[in-house]
Amino acid sequence: MSERFYVTTPIYYVNDIPHIGHAYTTIAADILARRNRMAGREVFFLTGTDEHGQKVEKAAQEKGRSAKEHADLLVENFKGIWQRLNISHDAFIRTTDEGHIKTVQGLLQRLWDLGEIEKREYAGWYCTPDERFWTEKDLVNGNCPDCGRPVDRIQEENYFFLMSGYQSRLIAHIEQNPSYILPDTRRNEVLGFLKHNTLGDLCISRPKQRLAWGIPLPFNGDFVTYVWFDALVNYFSATRYLAPHAAHAGEGDFWWPADHHLVGKDILTTHAVYWSTMLMALNLPLPKNIFAHGWWTVGGKKMSKSLGNVVDPHAIADVYGVDAFRYFLFREMPFGLDGDFSEDALIRRINTDLANDLGNLLSRFITMAEKYFQGAIRRPASATFTVDEHEIESLAEQGMARPEFKPDFVLDFIHANIEARAERKWSELRFSVILEGIWSLISEANNHIARTEPWKLARTDPEALKTVMYDLWNALRLIAVSLYPFMPGTAVKMWKQLGLRVMEEEIRQSWTEKPAEDLRCYSRIFYWDWQPAYDIQVLKGEQLFPRIEKSREKQYIKSRSATADEIEETKESLAGEDKKVETSDAAAEREEEAGANLITINDFARVELKIGKVLSAERVKKSDKLIRLQVDTGEQRQIVAGIGKTYAPEDLVGRKIVVVANLRPARLMGVESNGMLLAATGSDGVPVILMPEKDVEPGSRIK
Ligand code: ME8
Repeated sequence: MSERFYVTTPIYYVNDIPHIGHAYTTIAADILARRNRMAGREVFFLTGTDEHGQKVEKAAQEKGRSAKEHADLLVENFKGIWQRLNISHDAFIRTTDEGHIKTVQGLLQRLWDLGEIEKREYAGWYCTPDERFWTEKDLVNGNCPDCGRPVDRIQEENYFFLMSGYQSRLIAHIEQNPSYILPDTRRNEVLGFLKHNTLGDLCISRPKQRLAWGIPLPFNGDFVTYVWFDALVNYFSATRYLAPHAAHAGEGDFWWPADHHLVGKDILTTHAVYWSTMLMALNLPLPKNIFAHGWWTVGGKKMSKSLGNVVDPHAIADVYGVDAFRYFLFREMPFGLDGDFSEDALIRRINTDLANDLGNLLSRFITMAEKYFQGAIRRPASATFTVDEHEIESLAEQGMARPEFKPDFVLDFIHANIEARAERKWSELRFSVILEGIWSLISEANNHIARTEPWKLARTDPEALKTVMYDLWNALRLIAVSLYPFMPGTAVKMWKQLGLRVMEEEIRQSWTEKPAEDLRCYSRIFYWDWQPAYDIQVLKGEQLFPRIEKSREKQYIKSRSATADEIEETKESLAGEDKKVETSDAAAEREEEAGANLITINDFARVELKIGKVLSAERVKKSDKLIRLQVDTGEQRQIVAGIGKTYAPEDLVGRKIVVVANLRPARLMGVESNGMLLAATGSDGVPVILMPEKDVEPGSRIK
């Protein structure tokens, strides 16, 4: 296990407004950084902004500012939200930093000197908004395969990085290092792509007359560097001028290579292919891991300004609190899979997991401690603690079964705690599984109260009461420690209410006790039966998580003062959530991770699916999305569907569709809908109607 830990987020486009997607990656990195600092490692956690390129240049021109002035203003949006969300980054890199520019130019010069860059005449297709070149065969219906917008024909001289030469080395590296790209589904995608395609060379320059806002090539000032080449280098350049010890960084860098590059699945190729081959050509070590997480949608749809469904993390934090938001993001969906953000689901998590399970446990304990002992918790003289937790931990790590012993709260808890904090889950970034483990500790503690009934012991057995209360105190203390990376604010509040002093300080100080030779050894503070050197005086504080009452629900959606049309559309898209079709890999993984979400064949049989034939179709007034259909499903019924942006009513008449026939009637924009038609949502958020492959009678059941 290395004693230093380096984690990065993507550097976000400076002209975007930060939303929950950006927050997601950055909070994930924060969780890892906090957990590793707590484990005594020296941590470098880097985030920042991507500031060059056409989009920033154009937006600045529109506002009458220089590109740098524009970036200087916008970067505050990111700095502000990271402060609000309690992000503990050690450095914030901007690609306009002098130190970064110098590093990019240094690396370009090195590649040029090594003969890894060539100047060529280029003719091809260019997507200006995406700033990417495409070949003829990449295009989809003559448009950009990524964003679907028209492309321009371009002929010019440019510089190319000879990426094609690294194809087989890259395949070998990914195959030999199973955790280089995670999760496995993404690794397989990259390998599949590399094995079935011929890697081209990468155009890494743009002529200055077309794009001035970039880093000039060191060997030809008429060109600037392609934004992705510039951006990817940030991970390395920060170690040269922003990280601790940067001043001493020679070739044998203290920080490089990074332990984890966290990215969304949208930018996996640029990291797994461009960045990896750039490093190979530079003779620099590759990062230890690139983790591509999944995608948050809202109401089943891609977040977009035009749909008005972009979720602002400031507003969510204002209404529900920072820690509830942080918890929800990592409990609700396994890291790596896609998920849908909904306020209903967030409120459910707050009311059950946070208010009921965790909040109640702490407040019940504190109330009893104040009532029975005036808040003074002492280790009972009778408590003999003979268990060697280290020993149990190493047995568990070797996969040895736990020894049989009679049910015993302390031993059960210790075992559950060792399981919950297992290093293996952390190295695979299985955040939702780790949180489930912590919640099993919380229910162990809640069950212990129910089983021992301290209010009865208070009358019958004061000695036993002391032991129960001391054990509960220890359990709550360890729960606070485990929660710290996910919900630092909550953990610190718990620590104080438990009569302890400054959590982060005490954990840091506890490390000085660590024997230098034992790398695996945790400080005693992570184990049962640790005690501070001062007397423990618990003290009731504010409630950790007040329940969200009905009247407060949907505050965020209300606070956006949505138009009636938007609210109707939100309801309709929520009703259409079921229409979402997942990729089979993702669905299989989700089933495995979240057994609780599985339904039985009987549950499924309750859904009546039928073939319908569209008899007539017309647009619903004042909506560009809703279409009113008359459908024959054995009987005639009216269905309203949100497909108007992709289908014209006249194209639908005569078509066979799949209908959910036993749905409760609903009103959409005042029009009654009796049932729902099934459609898949593509990655671009566009609905695609499901139709039977052969002709089938209207009214046929689908089973
Ligand atoms: O791509 N769900 O920056 P970017 C989950 N500048 N994560 C999301 C998300 C969503 N709906 N939307 C965004 C860039 N993200 C380049 C990166 S790195 C050298 C250069 C997160 O502002 C996710 O991490 O478009 C995604 O990869 C990143 O934001 C894209 O941020």
